Amino acid sequence: MSSMPTLNFEGEALSSPPTNGRFDAREKRLINCHQVDVNQLMPLKYKWAWEHYLNGCANHWMPTEVPMNKDIETWKSNKLTEDERRVILRNLGFFATAESLVGNNLVLAIFRHVTNAECRQYLLRQAFEEAVHTHTFLYVVESLGLDEREVFNMYHEVPAIADKDRLEMELTKEILEPGFSTDSFEGAQAFLKNLIGYFLIMEGIFFYSGFVMVLSFHRRNLMTGIGEQFQYILRDETIHLNFGIDLINGIRAENPELWTPEFQQEMINRVREAVELEIAYAADCLPRGILGLNAALFRDYVQFIADRRLERIGLPTQYGSSNPFPWMSETLDLSKEKNFFETRVTEYQSASSLNWD
Ligand SMILES: [Fe+2]
Ligand SMILES: [Fe+2]
Repeated sequence: MSSMPTLNFEGEALSSPPTNGRFDAREKRLINCHQVDVNQLMPLKYKWAWEHYLNGCANHWMPTEVPMNKDIETWKSNKLTEDERRVILRNLGFFATAESLVGNNLVLAIFRHVTNAECRQYLLRQAFEEAVHTHTFLYVVESLGLDEREVFNMYHEVPAIADKDRLEMELTKEILEPGFSTDSFEGAQAFLKNLIGYFLIMEGIFFYSGFVMVLSFHRRNLMTGIGEQFQYILRDETIHLNFGIDLINGIRAENPELWTPEFQQEMINRVREAVELEIAYAADCLPRGILGLNAALFRDYVQFIADRRLERIGLPTQYGSSNPFPWMSETLDLSKEKNFFETRVTEYQSASSLNWD
């Protein structure tokens, strides 16, 4: 007597239905899983994905919790030079739409092809965080009374921003082509290229000049509201990057045939191309240098960051540059996580103290 085949989440027949009616967590796979229904979170197999999910939840924040009064005062005064305003505006313009590109790629391209429940749980959390980040830029634009059309159109009006975004948007388009599947060798490699393009290049390289520039203002006690929001975003993005690296390395381990010498060279070339785009972006933001920052320092910094990213996915370093901004690693230091919360507690106290007077 024949029975109906067991279907997975995508409606495809599972290739070997379990004999005892239950699935085995050891059969879970990051992509192309035809053994275990993606609805089955437990038993967990990829504990790292669950850890990243818990860490993300522990860092919950909203941009509207950060007071903007001091930033509004500074922005409307003559404390900032035209060059300093340019740096702030360019970075708001880049992040305002880059966050949406990341969110859309997660939901439309990545989520569909990751066939594992614990990774999807993390991706849902990350998608919400990207919405929070986009919300931040709406809140900043409204608070400072900026021209919203100028900020939200920079991704196609400012060439240095458009060039970075084009590299990413092409990767999303590839995955959204009708008939795309990770079942084929080429499809699985294209998917891996998308993951490297978004997690490693966008969130791991393209965001970092902006973090340095905006946090440099914060270090000089200028635009501290935006600075604090960028600290929260940096903390979130650190987890996004770490999840992405675990996912990329997990897919490599399960599908070693994808990691050909040609593919590795192609990824190195992409990272090198991204490094040049990021150096050009920093030069465009800083035509004359401000706050001890200049384009030459960013060349070293972006190369230093790119080498760190390459090593994490087992590719050879390319530059050997040293880090001109060692204070950035202090900002990223895990022990500083407590300080984020201390800042928030202080601000809650100062807000409520208005009622005590
Ligand atoms: Fe983000
Ligand atoms: Fe992100």
